[in-house]
Amino acid sequence: MPDRIGPYVLDAELGRGTMGRVHRAHDSRNGRVVAIKTLSLGSEFEGYALDEARTRFQREAQAASRLRHPDIVDVLDSGDNGSLAWLVMELLTGQDLSHHTRPAALLPVSSVLAIGARVADALAHAHDHGVVHRDIKPANVMIDPDRDQVKVTDFGVARLLDASRTRTGLVLGSPTYMSPEQLAGRSIDGRSDLYSLGVVLFQLLTARLPFSGATMTELMAAVAQQPAPDARLLRPGLPDALADVVSILLEKRPELRYADGHSLAGDLRLVASRMQPRPDREASTATPLTARSGGRQGPKASPDNDIDGNATGNADALPG
Ligand SMILES: Nc1ncnc2c1ncn2[C@@H]1O[C@H](COP(=O)(O)OP(=O)(O)OP(=O)(O)O)[C@@H](O)[C@H]1O
Ligand SMILES: [Mg+2]
Repeated sequence: MPDRIGPYVLDAELGRGTMGRVHRAHDSRNGRVVAIKTLSLGSEFEGYALDEARTRFQREAQAASRLRHPDIVDVLDSGDNGSLAWLVMELLTGQDLSHHTRPAALLPVSSVLAIGARVADALAHAHDHGVVHRDIKPANVMIDPDRDQVKVTDFGVARLLDASRTRTGLVLGSPTYMSPEQLAGRSIDGRSDLYSLGVVLFQLLTARLPFSGATMTELMAAVAQQPAPDARLLRPGLPDALADVVSILLEKRPELRYADGHSLAGDLRLVASRMQPRPDREASTATPLTARSGGRQGPKASPDNDIDGNATGNADALPG
């Protein structure tokens, strides 16, 4: 890995994904601190396929950089030097949602609702602009409760993974979040992202995946045929309406899901607004990310209670 890419000087590594790494970096022209994602196209593609991958990358990066939404990471710049492609983004603080998928680290239901609604807003915006994410999963959503921030990352990157996947015949990345139509290689639209968000919500609420399999073939069969489990059975006390929303998202046929992110966001906010305030937690927890930053907040709706998973009450407790 070079220590400099164009005008960007690489600092600490922030994380690794399937095809590349994310570094903190700064722009030597103005000192601006950014995040830079590098993708080693040269090790994934060669010859004609490499040229095609570069063209595709630039096209996707440009589409992603046109998306401007408070809940979507800003893409500032992109480029490639023949074998290495890079995407410069605003540097995000906080953690990605994969930190909240273990039983001991689950977020309160109210936080999951608030985050889910904002991811749905972000998807609605992207879909309205003709961009399908294709790789919605916990690692691609960063949250920072201190800043009341939810950011969906990696718009446009997944198409490249798809191309690489097709070339090698392997499934890169995680197929666990893919819709039945995406796994089957059929054409997809925004409703495929909504399915993936359904898997993410299911996991954030129960610490389990709705479908699994020891092999790819088993997983694909489960996703294609098995009905999704009822999230309420894994997290007793979950509002019925929320379990229903998740079931709708996990419908096999896209036409049975929400038509778009707007209507999903509306329903998630409705569920949040109807969640009964409990005696041990006064006031509305409908917007816990906001509450943390000093917005609407009752005397006992302590911020730490809200986001750090120090859950109280039935819906926030896991069985066992
Ligand atoms: N703009 C950013 N600012 C700060 N950290 C980021 C940023 N983008 C990504 N990260 C961090 O870097 C990690 C690695 O990201 P990356 O996209 O390479 O991998 P991934 O999302 O886990 O997998 P995939 O390669 O399938 O997308 C992320 O999980 C996240 O924690
Ligand atoms: Mg990512």
